[in-house]
Amino acid sequence: MKHILTSCFAGVLAVGLTAMGAETVDTTKLPSASAKQVDFVKDIQPLFEKSCFGCHGAKPRAKAKYFMNNREKTLAGGSSKEKAVIAGKGDQSPLLHFSADLVEEMEMPPLDKRDNYPKLTKDQLALVRAWIDQGAKWPEGVELKAAP
Ligand code: HEC
Repeated sequence: MKHILTSCFAGVLAVGLTAMGAETVDTTKLPSASAKQVDFVKDIQPLFEKSCFGCHGAKPRAKAKYFMNNREKTLAGGSSKEKAVIAGKGDQSPLLHFSADLVEEMEMPPLDKRDNYPKLTKDQLALVRAWIDQGAKWPEGVELKAAP
């Protein structure tokens, strides 16, 4: 009996959790992807510029050496050497996990900085998830700009 219970529990864990280095992320807590066809410039760029870019690209030095200036850098990630965005797979993308507060100590924006850098709302996270699921499209030549 004990054996059966253990394997059931392991099965449930395997469904709900995605391994991410030493961390485990409960991806069931992610907002579902928006059904909308996402337009990067209209839907996503303003969010990144307001909530992320101040620490990740607006200045010559970026936190965790993570620059979000363009698509290539945003996908690549920073000092962790882990891809931040896996195009086509929102639920597996650390950028989304961090922005949805699923990884302790890696909440983005950091919890104590949210007066200046607002946390993304559930609807905004649903858009970011859809944007990644739809291939993380980012028009050629578009660079993030510092928020006013
Ligand atoms: C106030 C500054 C600040 C803001 C705003 C901010 N971050 Fe961060 N970010 C950090 C710091 C500091 C770290 C390093 C945390 C650590 O490793 O302990 C980090 C690390 C990261 C990493 C990991 C990079 C790597 O490879 O190591 C990602 C991805 C990330 N942030 C995404 C975001 C996103 C997306 C937003 C906006 C929703 C955002 N951050 C907003 C400060 C910020």
